[in-house]
Amino acid sequence: MMSKFFALIPAAGSGSRMGNKLPKQYLSLAGKPLIYHSVRTLCHSSEITGVFVVLAPGDNEWLKYDWSEFYSKLVVFDCGGATRAMSILNGLKVASESSSIGDGDWVLVHDAARPCLSESLLNKLLNELADDEVGGLLAVPLADTLKRGGTDNRVEKTESRKDLWQAQTPQMFRFRLLVDALYRPGSITMTDDASAVEALGLHPKLVLSDVCNLKITYPQDLILAELILRAQQEESYGE
Ligand code: CTP
Ligand code: MG
Repeated sequence: MMSKFFALIPAAGSGSRMGNKLPKQYLSLAGKPLIYHSVRTLCHSSEITGVFVVLAPGDNEWLKYDWSEFYSKLVVFDCGGATRAMSILNGLKVASESSSIGDGDWVLVHDAARPCLSESLLNKLLNELADDEVGGLLAVPLADTLKRGGTDNRVEKTESRKDLWQAQTPQMFRFRLLVDALYRPGSITMTDDASAVEALGLHPKLVLSDVCNLKITYPQDLILAELILRAQQEESYGE
């Protein structure tokens, strides 16, 4: 049987580095809550069967918005955990109880906080990994020169950036592998899914992405994301 593709969006974080009381997934971006953009791109993909969103227990923001345009694919759980990895693991467990997801099906984990994922990058990831043994992730080779800081922010050393990549999402692994990887105690504090898979001795594939697929971490990232979204919209209207 053909493997299916599912997406899971962890959205149970508090956005502490953003410094806003409202969790960042609900901050306004291009007239919508930030998370809307990730939900939309994944739900619009004809390759993706279902999209799961994992909210923090007691989240009272989600229902302030109308999600009915996505009801054919979107399923929402309020089983978020104390860390990103726990939110994802909890979400995968509930998803397997409530949907037809099988061990060999693919799961694309994509941060709520990455609103500028383009349809073309998503398709590139799906195409490059659909027959892969391990799975992988979107990533970008490091562009800047790397400095190791020491006392008083004085440069200790310049590090080589050769072979260094910045990990993005979606990160795409088969359901059983992802659950087994995240279930290990050391995975709880890992900040991406690939790290947990790597800890099993496997080598996820780096799929070349670009910096437009940025993560919203600090307030100034919102300004950039708004510009990128606007440019992407103009591009798609122009077609
Ligand atoms: N996330 C989650 N559950 C957690 C922590 C994070 O589902 N316990 C989600 C966030 O909502 C976000 C994604 O994981 O969509 C990436 O995490 P990050 O950018 O670190 O978001 P926050 O943890 O919310 O932000 P911060 O680290 O600044 O507090
Ligand atoms: Mg975090």
